[in-house]
Amino acid sequence: MINNLLENLNETVDYIRKHYSGQPLIGVVLGSGLGNFVNDLQVEYAIEYSMLPNFPVSTVEGHGGKLIFGKMAGKNIVVMSGRFHYYEGYTPQQVVYPIRVMKMLGVKTILISNAAGGVNKSFRVGDMMIITDHISLFTVNPLVGKNIEEIGTRFPDMSEPYNKEIISKAKNIANRLGYDVKEGVYCGVTGPTFETRSEYKLIQSIGGDAVGMSTVQEVIAAVHAGLKVFAMSIITDIGIRDEDNIITHEEVLAAANATEPKMSALFKELVRML
Ligand code: HPA
Repeated sequence: MINNLLENLNETVDYIRKHYSGQPLIGVVLGSGLGNFVNDLQVEYAIEYSMLPNFPVSTVEGHGGKLIFGKMAGKNIVVMSGRFHYYEGYTPQQVVYPIRVMKMLGVKTILISNAAGGVNKSFRVGDMMIITDHISLFTVNPLVGKNIEEIGTRFPDMSEPYNKEIISKAKNIANRLGYDVKEGVYCGVTGPTFETRSEYKLIQSIGGDAVGMSTVQEVIAAVHAGLKVFAMSIITDIGIRDEDNIITHEEVLAAANATEPKMSALFKELVRML
């Protein structure tokens, strides 16, 4: 199956090209509750994942499951509305399949959003955090298996997965918009359980500021393929509180939705400035 990966990718890309001739240079991955970003997109072509040859199909509530092409601030972009998570049962290679499709479509920069649990004690629900680095905790590396040299090297450097120039642009934009943004290290876990109290403490002690169930595998595949990456989290819950607290998916979605307009505005401005 791995040997067929390139063939599969080419088939997916050929299908898209038959229906859409634009050249997106920027790809955006929308996380939980961030779906409204596409309202500001001048849509030129949208296709359900289930219609695309070789694409995995999204199942999680709150995820749209569409690849959307269009113009934002005069630029061609492609947006993944809905992503694939390892906890849904997809293989790590399936999780990153769309990232590779975007690369083969000519995308150079990828902007990723997600909902994450706060581990840094100074964080509050609704905070936005620019991811400056990540730690992969128990997530399976999507590059395990035969390497495909046409996509990237066997042993990719990971000293700077998150592009510093884009981070600095995003900080300037946040300043201009009057948004307070945090920066920090995102710990990737498999989910679907939220963390135990001891796990939140562990994540804090190893240098994590936030924890989430997506992004890390996508970033690894993107770096492997030579893409520039920017990623940001909405802090949707605080796992590290001293008092008793439980975390629910509903609470996570509500917090993501509440911060969504700010995050969308920031991403939109970033697309304009890139
Ligand atoms: N842990 C893991 N993933 C998450 C969390 C969390 O607390 N919040 C949102 N996604």
